[in-house]
Amino acid sequence: MPGFALTVNGQPVQLEASRQASLLQVLRNDLALNGPKYGCGLGQCGACTVLVDGIAARACVIPAEGVRGRCVTTLEGLGSRAAPHPVQQAFIDEQAAQCGYCLNGMVMATAALLAREPDPSDETIRQELSGNLCRCGTHVEILRAVKRAIRLMKAEVA
Ligand code: FES
Repeated sequence: MPGFALTVNGQPVQLEASRQASLLQVLRNDLALNGPKYGCGLGQCGACTVLVDGIAARACVIPAEGVRGRCVTTLEGLGSRAAPHPVQQAFIDEQAAQCGYCLNGMVMATAALLAREPDPSDETIRQELSGNLCRCGTHVEILRAVKRAIRLMKAEVA
């Protein structure tokens, strides 16, 4: 059966064209990539955020076929345990989580923001992350982590 190809975390992936599944279902169920979380399933909470060609996107509402030929990056592909992405490192350093369910979305949305805008204002950060819901109220630590990530990324290029 003819399928379609995409790239996930730098690896080629082939899926059946008939597959009626969301990108999130394919990532979690078929590829065992459990960084992106299932929260609302309606595109409203941000827990499932991945990068599609570097842009933050909600994997729960994107049909898998919608990313035909695209490059998808999940939390697992952002960095590794041995060499975390600066945003991952900053969230670890600041212990910016309580239950941690929103963290995938916060990290991925922050990575997308800092890739296109390396030194955003507090207002921009707040606006960018406003669609990522944290019900524990860890917003102060999250903002601190984003600012630490900015510093880490600046130090990397210096
Ligand atoms: Fe995708 Fe909530 S699970 S936005």
